[in-house]
Amino acid sequence: MRIRTLFYPYFLLFMLFLSSPTAYTVELTEGAMLSNSCAACHGTDGNSPGAIPSIKGKSESFIAQSLTEFRDGKRPSTVMGRHAKGYSLDAKRKFSKQPLFMQGWEKLYPGMIEWVSGNAGGKIESVDVKIRILLTETGDKHKAAVINFIPPQKAGSIVHTAGLTNNDGWCPVNQRSFESTIHPAIHIIGDASIAGKMPKSGFAANSQGKVCAAAIVASVHSIKMPAPSYVNTCYSLVSPDYGISVAAVYRFDKDKGIYKVKGSGGVSPKDADETYRALEARYATGWYDSITSDSFG
Ligand SMILES: Cc1cc2nc3c(=O)[nH]c(=O)nc-3n(C[C@H](O)[C@H](O)[C@H](O)COP(=O)(O)OP(=O)(O)OC[C@H]3O[C@@H](n4cnc5c(N)ncnc54)[C@H](O)[C@@H]3O)c2cc1C
Ligand code: HEC
Repeated sequence: MRIRTLFYPYFLLFMLFLSSPTAYTVELTEGAMLSNSCAACHGTDGNSPGAIPSIKGKSESFIAQSLTEFRDGKRPSTVMGRHAKGYSLDAKRKFSKQPLFMQGWEKLYPGMIEWVSGNAGGKIESVDVKIRILLTETGDKHKAAVINFIPPQKAGSIVHTAGLTNNDGWCPVNQRSFESTIHPAIHIIGDASIAGKMPKSGFAANSQGKVCAAAIVASVHSIKMPAPSYVNTCYSLVSPDYGISVAAVYRFDKDKGIYKVKGSGGVSPKDADETYRALEARYATGWYDSITSDSFG
């Protein structure tokens, strides 16, 4: 529950002024700096003494969702709508299969891989290709012999040019047919589309393509399309013999859109043995063979 650690350092900092400086160690994180802005209304530790609702103990997902809804005007507010427009919720603070990756790195490449999260100065501001330097938001420079820079994800320019995106830069669609809700008769699948709870992945795009094709066929022949089922699996290779995966099954609900089927999916077990990792590595390459031939023939 992140929000607790968000407020905790602030609280410690406050204590520091009241007591001996040697008694506490304070980590001045970006989260603590941000939570400063909330404390004046929601209470020093998130527990509001007056009429403003307390946010202490509320889950990270509740707070993130509330802020997004305040920002988009989907949740009534007096001041929060204006506040929420001032914060970015996009800084990458975690990544898919993170504990499995980190365990794999420690096992196979001890001390060699450092992950710098978005809120700890990992956000890249610019890349100087000539002198091979990454400049971060906090002004740090990282030089390397080889840099594999993956810019923040965004929908392709074609959908922007075509006016198919919303304010967030992604394409809203009917999640049962993938027909654009902005321009009828245009269907959008894959990364560019807003597909409910599905992650942006090649496997997800492939699954959505099939549902979308069925919806188009059903519409052309004026027949009813059966309830769709969607799926995602992403394999990753930490080394050629060390595979990990994440998987889930999704269904559609007319109110919720695409949702994850409860109990389905998850990541592969954390402490699996070498045989299991090797088997997943074999299946990862097998998956690549299958999905490329399934998608492209
Ligand atoms: C580092 C990395 C690792 C990944 N690993 C996995 C994985 O292991 N498994 C997995 O399932 N997924 C993985 N993904 C995600 C996967 O690559 C994407 O989800 C998938 O490629 C999305 O397919 P798409 O067709 O929706 O979009 P894209 O593959 O992005 O295709 C969009 C295409 O539109 C083109 N385009 C844009 N504008 C125009 C224009 N104006 N005119 C003409 N063409 C245009 C672009 O050039 C591009 O070819 C990974 C992604 C990254 C970045
Ligand atoms: C000026 C005072 C003020 C500040 C600053 C402020 N809030 Fe709020 N917050 C409110 C009020 C008032 C509400 C009730 C909704 C409304 O009328 O805007 C609220 C509602 C909320 C809610 C919904 C709570 C619930 O249980 O429904 C959340 C979550 C929230 N704020 C988070 C934050 C966060 C996180 C910050 C800091 C980034 C923050 N707020 C900063 C005044 C404030």
